[in-house]
Amino acid sequence: MSRELEKRLISIRRHLHQYPELSNEEFETTKSIRKWLEEEDIVIRSTGLKTGVFADIKGGRPGTTVAIRADIDALPIDEKNGLPFASKIKGVMHACGHDFHTAAAIGAAYLLKEYQAELCGTVRLLFQPAEELGGGAVHVIKDGQIDDVAAVIGLHNKPDMPVGTIGIKEGPLMAAVDRFHIVLQGKGSHAAIPQNGNDPIIAAAQLITALQTIVSRNVSPLDSAVVSVTRITGGNTWNVIPGDVILEGTIRTFHSGIREEVKETFYSIVNHIAAAFSQKAVIDWFPGPPALHNHPAVTEMARSSALGQSLEIIDPSPSMGGEDFAYYLQHIPGTFAFFGTNGNEGWHHPAFTVDEKAIIKAAYFLFESAKDLLNSHGKW
Ligand code: NI
Repeated sequence: MSRELEKRLISIRRHLHQYPELSNEEFETTKSIRKWLEEEDIVIRSTGLKTGVFADIKGGRPGTTVAIRADIDALPIDEKNGLPFASKIKGVMHACGHDFHTAAAIGAAYLLKEYQAELCGTVRLLFQPAEELGGGAVHVIKDGQIDDVAAVIGLHNKPDMPVGTIGIKEGPLMAAVDRFHIVLQGKGSHAAIPQNGNDPIIAAAQLITALQTIVSRNVSPLDSAVVSVTRITGGNTWNVIPGDVILEGTIRTFHSGIREEVKETFYSIVNHIAAAFSQKAVIDWFPGPPALHNHPAVTEMARSSALGQSLEIIDPSPSMGGEDFAYYLQHIPGTFAFFGTNGNEGWHHPAFTVDEKAIIKAAYFLFESAKDLLNSHGKW
């Protein structure tokens, strides 16, 4: 394990950490990644996207193409962890560790470049923008970057797992994400004369409670789903019943059948409760990434690559969080792993950290598993 490479990757990660950029605005990040790859003569692919970097390392021997994906965007969070290399951009922070993923994938690229002559096939690097918006992967796919790719691997840091561990699991690992926005349209009135209006605050209160029965009464206790109402806005003073109330929230599920059923029940409850109070509900529905299901054979190969590097393999609990890597898996087989980074706080927390000792380990894991996938010549 090269000390020099490790130092270089840590400095790359710190640079990214100091200059985080929001989804679809990763312009400087894109420039830096291009520069770091070009320094090692890695061939950059053309793209129609404004941000993101795509590159190929074509081996000296024939074979298929596999991809390594890293996400590159940050979050609108004010960093509060006292790190000497904390964010210099106010209100923006790499609070999900995508700087870690980017540095690890650059490390894998450097290792692959060294090994290029012996490589059987091509490794494509996908430095993907806008993961946090849940749509970056869709643009990468539309841009044709995975058209000739036979399998894809990726990872996410996991602060609650120690360095040296990796969570690998076939099947469902992360949830499908749906977002809803409801306007309950009632009729405003004087607070003391409610009979002249249709109070949307009362309807909203009934609605929030009723929505909680979707998980408790409609989804099997052996399956999982979450319905969270996260925002409610209505009224602006104490003696007026408002005309409408806005509710927002999210629904998470692991199986497409349950996702559909939950959506149907949700619409039915919202519309019927609104009707019961002589009101109308306007529902906007924003489907996000599907559930992330890891491909069995590719996952098995990644597991044996991890064992080969003495990583301790953990059977990870699935996360109700979403991950737009799932879009790639709708097109091609692949696997997504959780990588132990022993952080202070969970994802998206202002004091989030990663232990940098994990960067070189993640770089080797991506390098070895891409190589092993190519060596198996598409037998998955
Ligand atoms: Ni993330």
